[in-house]
Amino acid sequence: AYTDGAHASPTRLIIPSPVDLHVHLRDFEQRQKETVASGTRAALAGGICAVADMPNTVPPVADRETYERRLELMSHDAACDFVLNFCVDDKYSLSQAASVDLFFIKVFLGETTGSYVLEKGLLENVFMLRKPVAIHADLKGMREAIKYSKRYETPLHICHVSRREEVELIARHKDERITCEATPHHLFLSGDHAVKPPLGNANDRDALWAALGTTIDIVASDHAPHTLEEKEHGAFGISGVETLLPLMVTALVRGEISFKHFYAVMHENPKRILRSHGIEYGFGVGGRADFSIVDTSESYAIDPALFHSKAKHSPFSGMEVEARVVETWVRGKRFFSNGACTNEARGAPLSAFSKEP
Ligand code: DOR
Ligand code: ZN
Ligand code: ZN
Repeated sequence: AYTDGAHASPTRLIIPSPVDLHVHLRDFEQRQKETVASGTRAALAGGICAVADMPNTVPPVADRETYERRLELMSHDAACDFVLNFCVDDKYSLSQAASVDLFFIKVFLGETTGSYVLEKGLLENVFMLRKPVAIHADLKGMREAIKYSKRYETPLHICHVSRREEVELIARHKDERITCEATPHHLFLSGDHAVKPPLGNANDRDALWAALGTTIDIVASDHAPHTLEEKEHGAFGISGVETLLPLMVTALVRGEISFKHFYAVMHENPKRILRSHGIEYGFGVGGRADFSIVDTSESYAIDPALFHSKAKHSPFSGMEVEARVVETWVRGKRFFSNGACTNEARGAPLSAFSKEP
């Protein structure tokens, strides 16, 4: 536990550089679901200083021109800092990926929102580019991706691990190039909420918790906003960027995760993944001052009506948490304070920042 004795449990915590490496910001032709502006303001409200944007937009970020357009939109509208992923689903996008300064190539090996599933037979070619690859996959897809990651010495990030067998597979094959993530919904929830991959059972959840900070490198939200009406029609995804940190800090406060493992999944490992892309991110002497301040003095119920995201619904609605984000600071400036983003809240690409002296 983070308390230091019988008395004086601190009520305000400074959390260094929370980053959410899995966020669908939508925009383009899906501004009804979320915009870059609303999604990144939601991130700041959730105590998140930087996000990785997912490319299954309409149109997808799967060619150079759309990537440039995305970068321009993000540079103009993002309230927090960011990196951009790039989608490869066919031969053309594969050829385009070679010349784009991307964070991860995102590969969908299974059906989800949008239909950008990778064309059969192309997975090996993706790894032959030797650029970092992030996958949305089931057990079989994970196995194949791990094989190619090793064969071509290509970094591989496995998104939203949700089942015990997946954790076990990754534990057996993990090397310094392979990383993976779990989401709060797969950690905390069961039942059949519309989300991909589907929620697991208690046995799966136990495996995820036990692997946090060891086999599982990071926790990311997979923030996947939809309108209320789309959700009523079964759209996959959870509006999660604002609940990631409150849920994880609550688990810390309640002793459900050790400080060491909390620090690993929320700070050290995201920082290590960013560093492997040449991005210096983090909190420390001479570094960026990115942090959020979280108040743990009282418990409150999650209320999606108060979300800054356009997607004001959540399977966590009504759940009691013990961590309220009061401030979010990015590069030494206060971007979010007492329920609202400040005038200083202007995001920048992390890579550009890292190149500054
Ligand atoms: O539930 C999901 N929704 N899972 C994904 O992997 C994608 C996401 C989305 O974009 O809506
Ligand atoms: Zn996914
Ligand atoms: Zn996703």
